Amino acid sequence: MINTALKPYNKKVDVNNSFSVYYLDNKEVKSTFAEDVKKGLTAENKYLLPKYFYDNEGSLLFEKICETEEYYVTRTEASILKKYSIDIAKYNHNKHLLVELGSGSSVKTRYIIDALKENSRNLHYVPIDVSDIMISSSKQLVSKIKGLQISGIIAEYEEGIECVSHLFNEPKLIIFLGSSIGNFDLFHAEQFIRYISTKMNYGDSLLVGFDMVKDINVLNAAYNDKEGITAAFNLNLLNRINKELDGNFNLDNFEHLSFFNTEKKRIEMHLVSKTDQCVSINGIREVIKFKKREKIHTENSHKFTPEMIAEIAAYSNLHYSKYWTDEKNYFNLCLFTKM
Ligand SMILES: C[S@@+](CC[C@H](N)C(=O)[O-])C[C@H]1O[C@@H](n2cnc3c(N)ncnc32)[C@H](O)[C@@H]1O
Repeated sequence: MINTALKPYNKKVDVNNSFSVYYLDNKEVKSTFAEDVKKGLTAENKYLLPKYFYDNEGSLLFEKICETEEYYVTRTEASILKKYSIDIAKYNHNKHLLVELGSGSSVKTRYIIDALKENSRNLHYVPIDVSDIMISSSKQLVSKIKGLQISGIIAEYEEGIECVSHLFNEPKLIIFLGSSIGNFDLFHAEQFIRYISTKMNYGDSLLVGFDMVKDINVLNAAYNDKEGITAAFNLNLLNRINKELDGNFNLDNFEHLSFFNTEKKRIEMHLVSKTDQCVSINGIREVIKFKKREKIHTENSHKFTPEMIAEIAAYSNLHYSKYWTDEKNYFNLCLFTKM
């Protein structure tokens, strides 16, 4: 079924009475995986974009990272949501529309959904994600939560929220969890939140999870778990290139490197070539040369201070209403409102 608010190249599929999926296929203006890989691997300082971590295998590996002893991020944010979701819902008592950017497995979202449902029997949840993991998690949610309506959007954040602003007009709470905001540096985080704010109506709220600057040993351990799951997640990017772009990366010839860059307040993830080598990627018609110890930069995960959060709020013209944190102040969940 085609919705008239959608552009012709997009489509809506009704999975069942309670769950529909919108596919936004914006290939005309968005670069493809092949184009981005070519650009990143032929650059002087090689890089790959972190949004490409999340194929099926990558999404499953991310879920496993969340369960590792060292990755405090998910556990801490979940503990704040468990404790304060009722309070968060009080600030959003008039909202029947919950939109989530980068929803993934939606596990932590359950706390917010349950709390909002206390005020609203007909809650409408709109998860936006580039990964199909959103479809399986949404199917589970609708089967478990009576009266929940889900309209999932397979798209990048910006296109997804733009689509929401066309399709749904009721007051909304937008959530952006997991400190995914940390994938942007401060300048781009400000630009991103400002863009999101342009898609908000007066009274709409935005709840963002920020991972805070903390003890460097805690940070380094979180991205270098003993079981090597983060390493496998990072290396899976090369696997994805092999599978989707007919590449011949030998994963044994690369290693995971992750460390906290104190000056830039960010965890950096890289893949390091263990040897001089050439890799062919037929799908982009390139042979990529690597020198021994040469790096591919795969992700930044910026950590925040209260001053940085206040700066983001000021730039976006949103009112910084309230924040919730844990005992160690490892993580802040901040609520911004359009006024
Ligand atoms: C770090 S995970 C966080 C998942 C979940 N929100 C959580 O807190 O556990 C990031 C999620 O955002 C999605 N994602 C990454 N980049 C994206 C983008 N540019 N647009 C939409 N989704 C994106 C990924 O597929 C993944 O599910």
